[in-house]
Amino acid sequence: MKIDVSGALQFVKASDFEELKKQAIEELKALKAKTKAGNDFLGWMHWGASMPKEEIEKIKSIAKRLQSLETIVVIGIGGSYLGAKAVIDAFKPYFTAQKTEVVFAGQNLDEVYINELKDYLKNRNFGIIVISKSGTTLEPAVAFRLLFEQLVQQFGEASIKDRVVAITDENKGALRSLVNAYGIDSFVVPDDVGGRYSVLTPVGLLPIAVAGVDIDNLLQGAIDAEVLYQKEDINNPAIQYATIRNILYHKSYTNEVMVYSVPKLNAFIEWWKQLYGESEGKDHKGIFPVSLNITTDLHSLGQFVQDGTRNLFETFIRISEPKTKLQVNHSEANYDGLNYLTGKGLHYINKQAEKGTIQAHSGGGVPIIEIEIDKIDEKNIGELIFFFEIACGISGYLLGVNPFDQPGVEAYKKNMFSLLGK
Ligand code: PA5
Repeated sequence: MKIDVSGALQFVKASDFEELKKQAIEELKALKAKTKAGNDFLGWMHWGASMPKEEIEKIKSIAKRLQSLETIVVIGIGGSYLGAKAVIDAFKPYFTAQKTEVVFAGQNLDEVYINELKDYLKNRNFGIIVISKSGTTLEPAVAFRLLFEQLVQQFGEASIKDRVVAITDENKGALRSLVNAYGIDSFVVPDDVGGRYSVLTPVGLLPIAVAGVDIDNLLQGAIDAEVLYQKEDINNPAIQYATIRNILYHKSYTNEVMVYSVPKLNAFIEWWKQLYGESEGKDHKGIFPVSLNITTDLHSLGQFVQDGTRNLFETFIRISEPKTKLQVNHSEANYDGLNYLTGKGLHYINKQAEKGTIQAHSGGGVPIIEIEIDKIDEKNIGELIFFFEIACGISGYLLGVNPFDQPGVEAYKKNMFSLLGK
């Protein structure tokens, strides 16, 4: 992975950047030494390297068993949902059905969604992975109650042990009671890893393995990244990213637009939004994370980015290698006037759209950061996950917030529970 912050540096003072990088290194040291707020939630910093081999083998063997079913419903929300979806969608073919499909529930309270899912499952040989660290979150709890009831009706009580797996707290919560009552397989959400940092724990790894993604390589990417991005060095890309976004924030660029040009990364960007939004948006501070999928969104939000309020900067995730070799062929009739593209690959055309966008937005007053990977594979995605996590910790500390709590999430729950008569 490479980072280029030159397109942002022209909007800030080089001396400010150099100065703040030194502080960023101090924040990285504080993360490593566990001396600041949230220090009991830093298990993710060494999770890949320290995960017991038996745990990985258990994940693989349960995933294999679940793969004998047609559909696995993964129930969870927030950090118990977005990481798995991010990685699964990055590798899922766009149009080909998979042998074992993974679908999601518990990430909303829409009656129509659950109802249509229930109808769909009536004719499917299905199982459930239910994920909730607290075991008390309403959305997944409601979805699980409805779908578990259906599973028992469809396949009988005796099949629960083969079809249901829970990922939750080691000792407490409703899901742990369920595990004990039925003797079903379970995994523990580590105490020292918060939801949005948990994708490389069983929370993400089990659904990801069921979907057929190579979790060894995913973890290896993260393990390599643990070394690279914990270097106390001003050239460390995590230090550069955390620093430049904080300088921009203090220059009133308070929105970060993550720009990407392949729809397979849609869910990955949603994961990134949660990671940064929930980690930094507190104490009336924070950079608001948004996204732009090019070229699709150039025909919707592009106008705003080019020409609207100048309070945003962009981070491009660029992918250098094409996956296919599709090119535009010569046409005798040339009705569409596209013969100037003859022999040019679609990936090349997309790259020119990306380059043209960078030039245009930069000219329009948008600071630009570029992150580049060679291709979407497990190692690169594992690396990117760790890169964004560590940079988020450093950035949150630079901002002066605790990047590992989420007190603001409780407000809506309090009102909802009161309205529901809990
Ligand atoms: O990042 C977080 O901590 C949250 O997004 C949680 O993951 C989310 O609220 C779901 O919580 P739980 O796993 O306890 O059901």
